[in-house]
Amino acid sequence: MSSQATLTGELSANGLLPQAWATSFTAIDRAEFVPAHCWANTLDGATEPLDREEDPARWEAAVYSDQPIVTQLDDGATTWPETSGNATSSASQPSLVLEMLDSLDIQDGDRVLEIGTGTGYNAALLAHRLGDSQVTTVEVDPDLTEQARAALLSLECRPTVICGDGGDGYLPNAPYDRILATASVLAGHVPTAWVEQVDVGGQILLPWKTMWGSGVLVRMVVKEDGTAVGPVLGDAFFMNLRSQRTPFGQAGKFGRLADEATDAPVSSTIVAPHEVAIDPDGAFTVGLHLADVQHSIAYEDPEHYELLLYQVNTGSWATVEVTAEHTAEGKFPVRQHGPRELWSEAEAAHNWWIAQGRPARTSYGLLVSGQQQSVWLNHPDNPVTGLI
Ligand SMILES: C[S@@+](CC[C@H](N)C(=O)[O-])C[C@H]1O[C@@H](n2cnc3c(N)ncnc32)[C@H](O)[C@@H]1O
Repeated sequence: MSSQATLTGELSANGLLPQAWATSFTAIDRAEFVPAHCWANTLDGATEPLDREEDPARWEAAVYSDQPIVTQLDDGATTWPETSGNATSSASQPSLVLEMLDSLDIQDGDRVLEIGTGTGYNAALLAHRLGDSQVTTVEVDPDLTEQARAALLSLECRPTVICGDGGDGYLPNAPYDRILATASVLAGHVPTAWVEQVDVGGQILLPWKTMWGSGVLVRMVVKEDGTAVGPVLGDAFFMNLRSQRTPFGQAGKFGRLADEATDAPVSSTIVAPHEVAIDPDGAFTVGLHLADVQHSIAYEDPEHYELLLYQVNTGSWATVEVTAEHTAEGKFPVRQHGPRELWSEAEAAHNWWIAQGRPARTSYGLLVSGQQQSVWLNHPDNPVTGLI
């Protein structure tokens, strides 16, 4: 039988259990926070139901492994055991939970605000280490808030649990030393309430992304002048804050439009689609330039796929076809439709990336104040204008 000790042992053996969190991670049983009915992610981006009563071994194996567990689909409209690919809440991957807690350099005595209570598991870890009075957590979904409250209470854990929009922070318990967001923020839309509610020298850790989709983790420090500044640390893909969701299910619609537009003019490109959409550094930079554009990839096999770019407001789309032959030739057929020539925009962004020496995504950072939100490259004194 799996147990919290199984999970602790696995993470520890892989060097993924930070010393500062080892005691709390060992003490708080993840199973107390995962509902009996939940879903595992499948490789094709869908979900499959897990049932604690019917198949306890499979449920436990999932809960005590280093994987996220989906706990809500379509804001609760899809009810277990139905499935969909649209997870709206989950118990995050344990190693990522620990990585985020560790990255935030939380010190004993810190006052922490968590955005996105979800199951309450993260809040329990925080409260176990820091004490109930130091921890506030905000969840937008009333049902999830109630479930998290009940799970926390069953362990005698009593942080402040608020049902509301975490984008407002939670002023009554401010100021905080740390803010930990466990829902993603869209480029240009970091809530300024977070910056205002953190003490000077305090830190904010947030998943951040453009509509293009490459999610990263950013850690910012709040300065005396009221700005928050800090670098991209690495990758992290989270569901967006509820008010900042990108339109879901549009890839299928635009894919059909592109399939039907047999008369769309065909041109060609010598820019490798792989570097625009798949290479994590290239795709991140392209995403900064095309912050309101979405993309998807339909694979026949790893060497044969179609890249689709689409922009919902203008109805613009573009496709690039990749085959082994096109790759060998270094030339790919392109179709573009609509007021925005999306592939031409992506090419320009890619050229800019090359001209900058192909910067890694971790070469960038964010600056956020009440007046502006901008991206910098290599150093906060080097803002890149015209992005996000
Ligand atoms: C990945 S889950 C959080 C996992 C959670 N920290 C845990 O330990 O289980 C993201 C959560 O953010 C919540 N959320 C989304 N938008 C929000 C908002 N504006 N304010 C507060 N919570 C929000 C979602 O409902 C979801 O429960």
